[in-house]
Amino acid sequence: MTFKSVFNAVLLGSAFIFAAMLINFARPDVETAQPGPEYIRATGKCAQCHIQETAAVVHQFSMSRHAQVGVTCYDCHRSVENQPGSDHHGQIIATALTALNCAQCHQTEYDQFARSRHAAPAWAAVMGAADFSTEQIAAAERYHPGAILRPPNALAMLEGAGALESGCFKCHAVGRPNSDGSIGSCTDCHTRHFASVALAREPQTCGQCHMGPDHAQFEIYTESKHGVLFGMQKGTMNMAAAPKRLTTRDMPVPTCATCHMSGLDGLKVSHDVTERLSWFLFAPISKQRAGYLQGQIQMQEVCAKCHARSTFETYYREAEVVVASTNKKVQAGLDLVAALRREGLLTPEPFDETMEFLVFDLWHYYGRTAKHGAFMGGADFVQWHGNYELLLVMTEMKELAAELRRRDH
Ligand code: HEC
Ligand code: HEC
Ligand code: HEC
Ligand code: HEC
Ligand code: HEC
Ligand code: HEC
Ligand code: HEC
Ligand code: HEC
Repeated sequence: MTFKSVFNAVLLGSAFIFAAMLINFARPDVETAQPGPEYIRATGKCAQCHIQETAAVVHQFSMSRHAQVGVTCYDCHRSVENQPGSDHHGQIIATALTALNCAQCHQTEYDQFARSRHAAPAWAAVMGAADFSTEQIAAAERYHPGAILRPPNALAMLEGAGALESGCFKCHAVGRPNSDGSIGSCTDCHTRHFASVALAREPQTCGQCHMGPDHAQFEIYTESKHGVLFGMQKGTMNMAAAPKRLTTRDMPVPTCATCHMSGLDGLKVSHDVTERLSWFLFAPISKQRAGYLQGQIQMQEVCAKCHARSTFETYYREAEVVVASTNKKVQAGLDLVAALRREGLLTPEPFDETMEFLVFDLWHYYGRTAKHGAFMGGADFVQWHGNYELLLVMTEMKELAAELRRRDH
């Protein structure tokens, strides 16, 4: 090659680059903000089309740990085992993905999740046992006796389709059985494409479902010293620390995940949110769980990373006083309703009389709220949204019972 031809080639090349820059300059940001060609190659052709079709998917994915370590679109979107696949621009992909697609690479997390109450019990709480295979029922009943083998929820059936699909299922499908034999969804906490531990550690992530008057954990946490301090100091924390190396330096204030799941300072990370619990707080009358002692030891190991033993032992003692006293108040309400049934003053059907709503509110809203408030630092929830309401509703129930008995004479 002569000097002149090299010079011409360079000139021509520069012209091309300049032209390309001009074209790029005219293109919208979503396209030019694209990662380079290596990235497109690593993800096959998927991202090339999808930056036009569903730009947010590609951007979310490119911010994820998956993109950093070379997990591709196709790794998740290929059909595994017995999932139906369909032709998508020359590539067979599955369009409905489940926990099974994640379990290919995260079997440990799947196994822990599958034995927690986030799996089969969550779905059975609404729809009962009907949607599960015999093996799935046997596996889940081993960990949670009675939590799968139950009828569909009476209130849900009464309210019907208008409540189910866009209501109950949006929260309880975290444990829905999938047609490929797996259970549940991982993306409720991780999202489909960002898949990050930092997001999963945000209280709002759990608060998507754990909120409202029947399980006000998010509101309680927000009110607690932990929540207030987290709000102020979050910006200085290393929320993305790798789970197996998470320290109290990364996160000196706990979020929901810290207490219920994280492996703080060498503790074991777990996707079984049931492991660290000792009481069935959601039940009308709270009883100790089968693993009561083990549950308390495991949770208190987390408190112990930040607190003196006397602090959390006192705290647990005080919370258990609230459990015992709430049990007594709710039992009085249940006894009153049982007596009215015996006297023939209430029909056997659920939710067709005011008294049945009152007793439901008594335990389902106010009883639970008092107990959850006591265990997670929400004084206002123990008192004004809890005990005060318990007293008020019980008074209303007694008045209504007297009225029913008067009318009967
Ligand atoms: C030739 C362009 C093109 C390629 C290549 C491509 N897609 Fe698509 N994809 C599309 C279009 C167009 C849609 C429809 C978008 C819409 O409905 O607005 C789509 C839809 C999808 C959907 C949603 C399907 C549904 O029915 O819910 C998924 C998932 C998907 N693509 C994944 C992938 C994956 C994974 C790859 C790579 C293996 C890929 N795509 C490659 C163009 C493409
Ligand atoms: C970590 C696994 C994972 C990776 C990696 C992944 N996806 Fe997805 N994607 C999912 C899941 C899960 C869904 C939800 C599927 C369903 O509805 O059953 C989904 C849904 C989609 C949809 C439908 C989105 C909507 O909101 O309508 C498109 C399109 C899509 N993915 C394209 C892609 C493309 C393109 C890539 C690569 C840039 C990619 N995905 C990488 C897991 C993944
Ligand atoms: C998509 C909704 C959803 C999200 C998001 C969610 N949960 Fe849950 N969670 C549920 C449901 C539904 C139950 C009740 C399951 C049952 O007992 O039937 C539950 C139960 C629990 C329980 C009690 C388990 C038991 O054995 O009684 C804990 C603890 C818990 N979740 C913690 C968390 C934490 C921590 C997060 C966030 C990292 C979280 N959840 C995110 C829906 C969700
Ligand atoms: C906003 C999300 C959300 C919606 C909507 C929702 N739930 Fe729940 N549900 C939860 C969470 C979170 C728990 C766990 C409470 C706890 O452990 O303190 C729960 C607990 C339960 C429980 C007690 C746990 C068990 O295994 O028995 C039942 C029963 C239940 N829900 C039924 C329903 C029904 C039926 C509907 C619709 C009529 C419904 N839920 C709607 C989030 C939701
Ligand atoms: C092809 C294998 C593969 C598939 C499929 C896959 N992952 Fe991953 N995932 C990985 C690898 C590899 C890492 C990085 C592990 C590390 O950081 O050492 C990872 C990391 C993660 C992390 C940690 C992210 C962080 O912020 O540190 C989460 C959460 C996660 N995956 C969730 C999922 C979910 C949910 C799905 C299904 C929708 C899924 N993964 C599918 C291989 C996979
Ligand atoms: C209730 C919310 C929730 C659900 C559902 C959930 N995760 Fe996670 N996941 C988390 C949290 C929180 C962390 C971070 C724990 C910590 O703080 O160290 C995490 C961490 C991870 C990690 C990183 C683990 C490590 O040691 O590096 C992977 C991988 C992962 N999850 C995969 C999954 C898979 C697969 C599923 C479904 C079977 C799933 N997750 C379901 C909340 C959830
Ligand atoms: C400081 C630690 C801590 C934090 C932070 C925390 N929890 Fe808890 N949580 C507890 C303790 C302790 C219990 C009661 C344990 C027992 O049964 O022994 C509990 C109970 C629960 C239960 C009750 C299960 C039942 O039996 O009804 C749920 C659900 C729950 N927490 C979810 C959450 C959510 C969601 C958040 C964040 C919004 C959160 N927790 C924040 C410590 C914590
Ligand atoms: C990651 C560290 C961390 C963990 C884990 C943790 N806490 Fe805390 N907690 C704090 C910090 C920081 C404060 C504020 C301390 C201060 O005022 O100096 C606090 C404050 C408290 C307070 C005082 C509330 C007040 O109103 O003054 C109580 C009680 C408490 N925590 C109980 C618990 C219990 C019970 C557990 C375990 C279930 C727990 N904490 C887990 C960091 C933690």
